[in-house]
Amino acid sequence: MKVIVTGGAGFIGSFVAELLMQTGYDVVIIDTRKIIKEHEEKKIKYYPINILSPEIEDVFIKEKPDIVIHLAAQVDVNESIKSPVKDAETNIMGTLNLLNYSNKYKVKKFIFSSSSAVYSDIEKTEEITEEHSINPSSFYGLAKYISELHIRMFNEMFGLPFTIFRYGNVFGPRSSGGDVISIFLNQFKLGNEITIYGDGEQTRDFVYVKDIARANLLAITKGDNEILNLGTNSSISISSLCTNLKSIYQKDIPIIYKPNRQGEIRNSKLNAQKAKSILNWTPEYELQAALKEIVSDAN
Ligand SMILES: NC(=O)c1ccc[n+]([C@@H]2O[C@H](COP(=O)([O-])OP(=O)(O)OC[C@H]3O[C@@H](n4cnc5c(N)ncnc54)[C@H](O)[C@@H]3O)[C@@H](O)[C@H]2O)c1
Repeated sequence: MKVIVTGGAGFIGSFVAELLMQTGYDVVIIDTRKIIKEHEEKKIKYYPINILSPEIEDVFIKEKPDIVIHLAAQVDVNESIKSPVKDAETNIMGTLNLLNYSNKYKVKKFIFSSSSAVYSDIEKTEEITEEHSINPSSFYGLAKYISELHIRMFNEMFGLPFTIFRYGNVFGPRSSGGDVISIFLNQFKLGNEITIYGDGEQTRDFVYVKDIARANLLAITKGDNEILNLGTNSSISISSLCTNLKSIYQKDIPIIYKPNRQGEIRNSKLNAQKAKSILNWTPEYELQAALKEIVSDAN
């Protein structure tokens, strides 16, 4: 069975592509970025094409994919606020372009990486189910939600099956470096100072990249036409994350506080009960243990 993985050269996409290959799927990556060295060596098929390009149709004609796992995106919340048009081009029109060809060439399923950024904010003690109110705080979250609506309409009008995932904060090796854990790890390595935006009491639900890859694999055969949160049913404050890293590195470096960044939610804790009952998915990696592993692998 052939699977197109858009964004397969990126952080999450490279793990998805790897797991699919290990499981015996025929993988084709579409990404404007070059695929990682290990995948080059394994000779994964790769098209360096923009998802907005009409050339995408040629890939569908040539490869005849059974499944599309769509991860390619403009992923930076701040960038979406600086350049909402560019964000919408990639995240809305790019998705629409892929949906259009997925439908035209009768793909069996479209699996989409959405985000907890579509939800309205919560109190620290609450958790977010899939029924939680939608109210994105950034153009990034808005574009993800608009794509979700496009996907649902393709299903209603043309019967294109889908699974939509809403991820918490994904972490792990090979991250592109823009997420808080990668930034902290770099800052600890340099040893000068740690930067926290806001008071540090904002909370996040950190989910490990290999758990996310496994959910994408499971969605090939299960979870048709479902919207599923992928998180850990737990959260940690940014200050506590910093304290944990201090204990792993056994290093105490000064914290510099900067003003809150626009577009960022205050709290995030995803209830992933639905993914458990529908996909039989539960996260296997625990934050502190995974952090220790990442730090020791990097040293
Ligand atoms: N990392 C997270 O915490 C997180 C959380 C929620 C949702 N997501 C979603 O998961 C997906 C993957 O995110 P990631 O963290 O791996 O990011 P990433 O930046 O590492 O990967 C995205 C990939 O998409 C490619 N890409 C971007 N624009 C493209 C275009 N126009 N045409 C072709 N390729 C293009 C990039 O080159 C990159 O390799 C994204 O859709 C993102 O919105 C990520």
